[in-house]
Amino acid sequence: MSRGNGLSAAQQPGPLCVVGAGYVGLVTAVCLADSGVEVRLLDVDQTRLALLRSGRSPIHEPLLDDLLSKVLRRGRLVLCNDVAEAMRGARMAMLAVGTPPLADGRADLSQVRAALGEVVANATESDTVVVIKSTVPPGTTAALRALCRRSGRTFPLCVCPEFLSEGSAVKDFHHPPQVVIGGDDRVACERVARLFEYLDAPVRITDSTSAELIKYGTNSFLALKISFINEMAHLCELTGADVQVVADGIGTDSRIGRAFLGAGLGFGGSCFPKDVRALDMAASYHGQSFWLLRAAVEVNAQQRSRFVAKIQKALRGNLANKRIAVLGLAFKPGTDDIRAAASIDVIRHLEDLGARVVATDPVAGAKAAAQLPFTEIVADPYECVSGADAVVLVTEWPEYVALDWRRIAPLVKRHLVIDGRNCLDGEALVAAGFTYISMGRAVRRPGRPAQTDHTLRPELLASGIG
Ligand code: UDX
Ligand code: UDX
Repeated sequence: MSRGNGLSAAQQPGPLCVVGAGYVGLVTAVCLADSGVEVRLLDVDQTRLALLRSGRSPIHEPLLDDLLSKVLRRGRLVLCNDVAEAMRGARMAMLAVGTPPLADGRADLSQVRAALGEVVANATESDTVVVIKSTVPPGTTAALRALCRRSGRTFPLCVCPEFLSEGSAVKDFHHPPQVVIGGDDRVACERVARLFEYLDAPVRITDSTSAELIKYGTNSFLALKISFINEMAHLCELTGADVQVVADGIGTDSRIGRAFLGAGLGFGGSCFPKDVRALDMAASYHGQSFWLLRAAVEVNAQQRSRFVAKIQKALRGNLANKRIAVLGLAFKPGTDDIRAAASIDVIRHLEDLGARVVATDPVAGAKAAAQLPFTEIVADPYECVSGADAVVLVTEWPEYVALDWRRIAPLVKRHLVIDGRNCLDGEALVAAGFTYISMGRAVRRPGRPAQTDHTLRPELLASGIG
């Protein structure tokens, strides 16, 4: 299938076999098929393939369903469960299988190794290029390349990390800040680059280990920013400052930037927690103690327990039999993914302390229910908050930011809202009669000025003023 890009058949990047129809592989396969590349999408999960064949995506991702139906209808995307069929005539194979964390935090590369072995064994073209899309620790591509060469298979092996955020993956795919391709075969890297040339994004071709570290470094630095602002939020609470105001000020400095300075429950999802720990383990493997990464992970874990402590304090230390309404289960808005979601830790902790939790989420309720057997999960947020001793905001879905708090006021048992993402309108809540507690900011109560529970330093008290 020509892309109409003026390249000869030999120069065409496809046919392309993508292995893994997960959050990354599915979006990548559908978007490249829509660009005109002939794509075969291979997965071992028959249930997932059956859902895809019916034109439905196994993941909640805006814009994906329409694109999927379009490329299936036009025959540009072929779904396969047999690697020989998927690799027949393929001139490129892309591995987008999972690299979940092992118990000690190292990345589990078993799926990558298995998938690489299968595509190499079933390649029919002499010039097939294999691309690792999955996030793999520094040095992995080079090591796998050596392994392939030792087995007499000398296909060029490149790495092309993904920078897709869940909930905006299709948009992110079409508007990447750059395309990073790592490898030791320039021609092969340029062939991979041709897959993405229609995006007009800058292409950065590096050695494979640098490309792997660009991916880990990007995610880790973003995670560090989040943990930094969360530590600043704690200090704001102790000193009576407002972390939103502080973050606006800090973020105005163009060297820092405002993005990822949102204080709250911290980072979850399938990437940041996994990638930060995997990078720390990779550093340790090479004899380096990457303390900054450990600090980011520790601060992040602490945010969840600090948040539960806020709820407990707001209910005078006793959560036994209190009804807590939790708004949001997905790790962030726009997705149904609950991997490493703050909601799971917070709800389990509340239930351990004797609370009865009712939770809601626009799309992640079903996935969360499997991990929260004692939690009542309802679809409607107004039903969720009815009779609540406290309403707790965990995921900043637009639906919850837009809730009608005057309608909620007569429904709840106590007028108490604790906002884990600093996304609600404190003024509107106080006007509706609620006490509004958030992260890194003063508590707001109806009819009372913002309360800051900071204490003057002794040396200031001793010296007096004037
Ligand atoms: C991907 C990358 O793999 C990960 O490194 C990155 O950090 C995030 O994106 P993800 O897409 O979330 O992870 O993986 P997952 O949702 O687990 O999907 C992987 C898919 O590969 C699954 O559907 C699984 O069935 C399939 N798979 C796995 C295969 O088809 N063959 C295998 O050998 C292993
Ligand atoms: C991230 C990276 O953004 C993406 O480039 C990479 O490819 C995969 O990992 P994702 O994990 O989907 O994407 O979501 P992201 O929007 O980055 O948020 C990550 C976590 O950080 C979420 O739990 C979010 O709630 C949290 N977060 C984000 C904050 O706590 N504060 C912020 O200011 C921003």
